[in-house]
Amino acid sequence: MSIKKLHHAGFVLRTLILDRSPNLISDHKVGPRTFRRCMVGSEMVDWILQQSPASIIKCRLHAVGMWQALLEENALSHVGRELPFADNHQLYRFQEDHLGLESQPNPVEVQRAEEDWMDTLSFLTKICSDALMRLILKKPSEIRMWGFEPHDRHVEELEIIYEELLHIKALAHLSTMVKRELAKVLVIQTVDKEGTTMFHQGDEGHSWFIILKGSVNVIKYGQGVVCVLNEGDDFGKLALVNDAPRAATIVVREDNSQFLRVDKGDFNRILKNVEANTVRLKEHGKDVLVLQTVLFDKRTNSPTGNSKVQRYSVMAGVPEKILEYLMETRIEGNMDEVDTLLEDFLLTHVIFMPIPKLCKSLLNHYHSECLSSSTPNSMDADDEFVFAKKKKVASFVDFWSVVANTSFSESTAVRDLLETLTLDAQEDTRTKPELQESLTKIQRLVERMRRDEECKQRHTWEVQKQGLSEFRRPSSDASGSKQRAPIRIHDEAIFRVFCADHTYTTLRTSVITTVKQIINSVSEKMCLGGHDLVLCEVKSCGERVTYRSDDICITSRLSCNGQIFISPREHLDALTPLPSQDGPEDGTMAILETMDSREFAQQLTLYDFELFKCIHEYELIYSNFGRSLFPGCITANLDLFIRRFNETQYWVATEILLTVNIHKRVQSIKKFLKIALYCKDLQNINAFFAIMMGICNTAVSRLGQTWEKLPAKFKRLHTELEAHMDPTRNHRTYRLWVAKLSPPMIPFMPLLLKDLTFIHDGNKNYFDGLVNFEKMHLIASSIRMVKFSRSEPFATDTTTLVKNIQEIKQYVRHLQVIDNQKLLNQLSNRLEPPKTI
Ligand code: CMP
Repeated sequence: MSIKKLHHAGFVLRTLILDRSPNLISDHKVGPRTFRRCMVGSEMVDWILQQSPASIIKCRLHAVGMWQALLEENALSHVGRELPFADNHQLYRFQEDHLGLESQPNPVEVQRAEEDWMDTLSFLTKICSDALMRLILKKPSEIRMWGFEPHDRHVEELEIIYEELLHIKALAHLSTMVKRELAKVLVIQTVDKEGTTMFHQGDEGHSWFIILKGSVNVIKYGQGVVCVLNEGDDFGKLALVNDAPRAATIVVREDNSQFLRVDKGDFNRILKNVEANTVRLKEHGKDVLVLQTVLFDKRTNSPTGNSKVQRYSVMAGVPEKILEYLMETRIEGNMDEVDTLLEDFLLTHVIFMPIPKLCKSLLNHYHSECLSSSTPNSMDADDEFVFAKKKKVASFVDFWSVVANTSFSESTAVRDLLETLTLDAQEDTRTKPELQESLTKIQRLVERMRRDEECKQRHTWEVQKQGLSEFRRPSSDASGSKQRAPIRIHDEAIFRVFCADHTYTTLRTSVITTVKQIINSVSEKMCLGGHDLVLCEVKSCGERVTYRSDDICITSRLSCNGQIFISPREHLDALTPLPSQDGPEDGTMAILETMDSREFAQQLTLYDFELFKCIHEYELIYSNFGRSLFPGCITANLDLFIRRFNETQYWVATEILLTVNIHKRVQSIKKFLKIALYCKDLQNINAFFAIMMGICNTAVSRLGQTWEKLPAKFKRLHTELEAHMDPTRNHRTYRLWVAKLSPPMIPFMPLLLKDLTFIHDGNKNYFDGLVNFEKMHLIASSIRMVKFSRSEPFATDTTTLVKNIQEIKQYVRHLQVIDNQKLLNQLSNRLEPPKTI
């Protein structure tokens, strides 16, 4: 809008008033004072309405808006205080009369004014709505002086504001109802001078702003101006929704900037709970963080129980910005047990921010200094900010150590980080004793790491029939109740590598030795030089699976009866399984029958739980995303758990099919159904599924004569148990069942892994260069299921009087299986030959 044009409009109006209605401008006496050549507000409105065609000015308020526009640009002024235009007894006068020029228009000027009259009217019509809105939205204090409160806005005024809100970009996504509510409470804030700070980073948030006119700089400590926001943009929502300090300082870039403002109370009432809105934060012209409001239950101590809390959660972002956002909103004071954003980050960061990168970023945060010159903040406030950040880094690292558990202290990058932080925090504590608490936190972590280091044993694992078992433990527990230790990257494995003629060599290597290195060692030991050698697993069914040369930790991935073979590439086809890979020839039902089913299920569960507890959450990610993407990381504990599932399945089928006598076979099915039922009650759902799947093996299920002999009671039990495995509607029965359970439990792992594969295949890791954090939330929630399941220890029933408990213990740890389906089918056909038609 041109000021010149507005002043010309003032000239046209004054000229025509003096020509057509000269009495409108006259001297007015107010008390002892006389105001020369002024007009009464309401008469000015009347005049303009009378003089203009009804089609141009639709209502009285529009005429008010026209006068207000002239007033704002000083073409008109109030005789006393600076007041917005009022359609009442207030006195106003044109600029010329205010300056005492009192000139009368000559005929040429009148002629010109007449000619410009319609143009002037249409120009004023265009700008009157804006001016009117500014008039209505004046600060409450001004409005109060003027005689009414914002909520006194009448219907017509609200309609005008609403119409204007329809054109504002920042409000475009809001519903009509929300815009109408906003119309009642919005106020306008004008900032006269460029360089004015509206608020500082770290301040408490009181309002949300929309830029109506002008622009602002968004400034962050240590980074300077990160972006410029322009007309139609909004700012200041984060602090209100998150109940966190301001994430940036806002400095006005232009004189006479105008903002629409919604104060916190109104914002919370109208906006916070009604709109699921998204915020995109930009830096240097690019999106760096996409946030979305989420609603979650906050557990309170109040008698009314839970209350709903709304926060911005991350949907996508640049890793560093996600970390920064966490530091600002989720650490210290803002930590909330039900808000999982921080935990989700720590459970999944290996995907998009490897440990060394995270450590480096944390150090940068710790060392970040203020760019004081870029913010007009005081030195004290800068210091406060810097120290608050240091404290947050210490708290973040502390929380990380809890979530990452064993993998935390295994990383050299973490070790270096802790060492640097200790030295820096010791130095900082000298000048800022308040940092002592943070220093103590870091020192405690260093101590823990040292302790872990000292008692860290290098375990040696041996490939045995039941998978990788510990070979030798230097300080074995005298009581014999050895808890299985997880397999770690610094451990060793002992295994045999066979040749085509079934000769073998035994190797003892680190678990992270690559296949290429293994081939070299075997080649040297067995004098196989000069060949293009490959390493593969030969399964009991004869299938060969060749390893990649950079594969590590191959021993944990062997199938139940699989063996490692070496061969020249061109002779791979000649490899055959060892006779021992077939598995047992005789069943153990006679022994099994002497074992109490309940105790058996309990011991099975205890061992499964040991294996389950050894899995590190990150192993689920490594295996899901592909081991090769995480060099040096192993999935051995997860591999062994999956192997255990298969082993349990095959064990059940093996035992049933090796029971030649039909009556004993019926007994064996009854036994397994009972064990499955007890496993279900003990919440070892993984074993429950494995046993049931063993019973459902085609080689077993086809034994019609055997099933016929099963008593009705057990047939019913079988049907009942099978119902729990119903895979329809994405295993709905299982999911509803598990949702009601409390820990400890062992979930059905194959389904959990399938869910993870689905999440991975169905969602990209990155969108437009931003980490797709929605995917990370999904992955984290699956992993949390594992965490939750083992958050309580498995309490054994100590009242048991079973005598052969040691025998049962040994049995569950050494299951003998046939894992060759062809062989199982042959056994089955031998027991009940197929009917010939
Ligand atoms: P709040 O934290 O309440 O106050 C500062 C505001 O700056 C913040 O809300 C956002 O609305 C806005 N802002 C815009 N861009 C950024 C950015 N890149 N980083 C942080 N805040 C930003």
